[in-house]
Amino acid sequence: MFKVLEKDLLAENIYRMVVEAPLVAAKARAGNFVMVRVSDVGERIPLTICDNDAERGTLTLIIQAVGKSTRDLVNIQVGDMVKDVLGPLGSATEIKDVDRVIAVMGGIGVAPMLPLLRAYRKQGAEIVSILGARTKDLLILQDEVQSLSDEIILVTDDGSSGIKGLVTDPLRERLETGETYDLAIAIGPARMMQAACKVTKEYDLPTLVSLNSIMIDGTGMCGGCRVSINGETKFTCVDGPDFDGHAVNFDELVVRQGYYRDEEEHSHRCRSIGGEQV
Ligand SMILES: Cc1cc2nc3c(=O)[nH]c(=O)nc-3n(C[C@H](O)[C@H](O)[C@H](O)COP(=O)(O)OP(=O)(O)OC[C@H]3O[C@@H](n4cnc5c(N)ncnc54)[C@H](O)[C@@H]3O)c2cc1C
Ligand code: FES
Repeated sequence: MFKVLEKDLLAENIYRMVVEAPLVAAKARAGNFVMVRVSDVGERIPLTICDNDAERGTLTLIIQAVGKSTRDLVNIQVGDMVKDVLGPLGSATEIKDVDRVIAVMGGIGVAPMLPLLRAYRKQGAEIVSILGARTKDLLILQDEVQSLSDEIILVTDDGSSGIKGLVTDPLRERLETGETYDLAIAIGPARMMQAACKVTKEYDLPTLVSLNSIMIDGTGMCGGCRVSINGETKFTCVDGPDFDGHAVNFDELVVRQGYYRDEEEHSHRCRSIGGEQV
């Protein structure tokens, strides 16, 4: 059992939770995630380790409550317990020796981006961050991104904060004006990452993405998270979640993300009593 030490609401349905998990906190590295199970009857859900404090023995998770399991998780009160926090899982990100990074993030994609920004900042890279959301109230962790970046560009679909448009607009603009970068990192919804990769491919800019495939065990056993990378099958949970964005078959990823939509909708509709579906 893992105790919830802190919980804050960052935006509508998006929470930051600090959970006591000393063994995971001691080993976690940028790119790792945990499989969390709220109760004995809950499903396992993958969540990025947004931050870890080895001394305090804690993990910081950013959770967007989108369905049954994430809602059950954010309903846990400070002082109460989460049943399982398994990890650290996934391959840690290889931090390359580069000088200039452009980081493009949308929605909850900020959570997996923060550990990468921290790692690149630590090794002295100059970072331009493009942070996007549908609207101002959904822009999260802006101060954290700002503190890790040399420049931050805000973008909202409706223009309520920063530039009106999509995160790919300032990305294209920067590359068009001849600014050079050694690496792009794009993390967010699959279609956003696909669009960012399309732009960076035109400029031959290596691009790292973090894939959010459906996961079941998170340890390479079930094949549920398989993705095609350069036509080869890989498992996001053990080979990723980070991949070369130019090699990812995003159309297949999007189709596979929708495989359980009916079951997820059913689960939404069911009432939950004592953690059990009825
Ligand atoms: C490596 C990785 C890291 C992630 N990190 C975060 C994070 O830091 N914060 C966060 O809020 N979300 C994160 N996610 C997504 C999160 O796991 C899903 O939102 C969650 O599983 C949804 O479960 P649910 O029961 O609440 O919703 P459901 O109603 O079951 O599903 C809602 C949506 O979530 C997706 N989803 C459902 N089950 C899974 C699953 N087992 N694995 C992946 N996606 C699923 C579905 O495609 C669907 O669109 C991550 C996913 C992966 C693969
Ligand atoms: S989640 Fe089962 S193999 Fe990756």
